[in-house]
Amino acid sequence: MNESPSFSSRTPHASPSRFTRRRVLKVVGGLGLAAVTGTSLRAWQVGLLGATDAYELWDEWAHGTLTDIRLLAAAAVLASNPHNSQPWRLRRDGTAIEIHVDPTRALGPVDPVLRQMYLGAGCAIENAIAAARGLGLDLDVESGVSVHGTRTCRLALSGTVPAETRHFEAIARRHTHRGAYLRDRPLDADRVAALLAQVTAPDTRLWLHAAGSGEGHAIADAIIDATRWLIADATFMSATDRWFRMTPREVAEHRDGPSLRTAGLGRLAQAGAALGPRPRAGASHATWLRATIEQHLATTPMLGVVGVRDAGARDQQVAAGRLWQRVHLEATALDLAAQPLDQLLEKIDRERELGIDSDSPRVAASVIEAGWTPMLMFRIGHAIDRALPSARRELDSFFDN
Ligand SMILES: Cc1cc2nc3c(=O)[nH]c(=O)nc-3n(C[C@H](O)[C@H](O)[C@H](O)COP(=O)(O)O)c2cc1C
Repeated sequence: MNESPSFSSRTPHASPSRFTRRRVLKVVGGLGLAAVTGTSLRAWQVGLLGATDAYELWDEWAHGTLTDIRLLAAAAVLASNPHNSQPWRLRRDGTAIEIHVDPTRALGPVDPVLRQMYLGAGCAIENAIAAARGLGLDLDVESGVSVHGTRTCRLALSGTVPAETRHFEAIARRHTHRGAYLRDRPLDADRVAALLAQVTAPDTRLWLHAAGSGEGHAIADAIIDATRWLIADATFMSATDRWFRMTPREVAEHRDGPSLRTAGLGRLAQAGAALGPRPRAGASHATWLRATIEQHLATTPMLGVVGVRDAGARDQQVAAGRLWQRVHLEATALDLAAQPLDQLLEKIDRERELGIDSDSPRVAASVIEAGWTPMLMFRIGHAIDRALPSARRELDSFFDN
């Protein structure tokens, strides 16, 4: 047999006879097999190889098998919501449905005044209304947040109207997009006008700023400063981390929270991150800051702000949520990607909770008109690839009756 030079020729302490090509291949093959077996085992452990029901509601929606109240409920649950905490309870009442907030799913220090929770209620209401309109179902909408209760809205089927399908068709395709956008491809004037036309409630407004404008820079700088501030707050960060689902197995178990799959990484990076050891908190927080600077803000061509007249009024928070959902549905219909970036407003809420006086409210207000307060900030643009759906809990688990 033609023995090729062994490693020993370059390894003075090893005996040539122990490192023939066959032996080397055997060892390498063995190590390779062990690595593959180890990786497969790890892949199985983290759930990469298993199936999950966490995305079944998106499929059910796409198959068109849901009707009436279950259809409205499914649309509500597929809406945008803070941290994918899905903070809703639903109550059936004949051909009506009530949408309640669910304080048991509050985010604690991440949302101390429940601003985000009530925005999330508005998102659910808007998606349910878009679903009804898409099927030509008329609705009596009784909005109004009960003072001591949790109810935010009652939607009662009341007849038929001509179907409006634009936002209905966007419900299944709307996903928060955390990947790279095309910085050099600004939104055209028609798209900007279509987005601005989503404002319908008197106490809500929408501002869109080119990323290169003075306001765009001010928003980006303030979001980066806020992210730095938040990652230094251990209480805040542990409340955020509690919701993050690192592996598919965690997603399958909880069916909520943001996950690696929706973090805006490529598929390979996702699998690599899921297979590796769980990163230390400090490392993952640094990654969030880096993604905010290098991916979310550096690649976006436009930043947006949803504002209200009275930031403390629950009804206006709900109305702001409805506007955000409508904007995201319209963006989806226009083939645009969008992602809320809440860090600055979370910092403001957290500072209030801790009694800290800072410049943040003034900075936030400086990017919109006087007399208005920002309720939600976001980025929007043309993305390079598609975002994936996030997990949802089983539809029946949202119903109280
Ligand atoms: C009030 C509010 C605040 C949010 N803040 C952020 C944010 O700061 N960063 C982010 O990536 N997504 C944010 N989101 C998006 C949610 O994380 C997202 O809607 C949720 O995970 C469900 O995923 P989906 O929108 O793809 O269905 C926010 C959504 C809402 C309604």
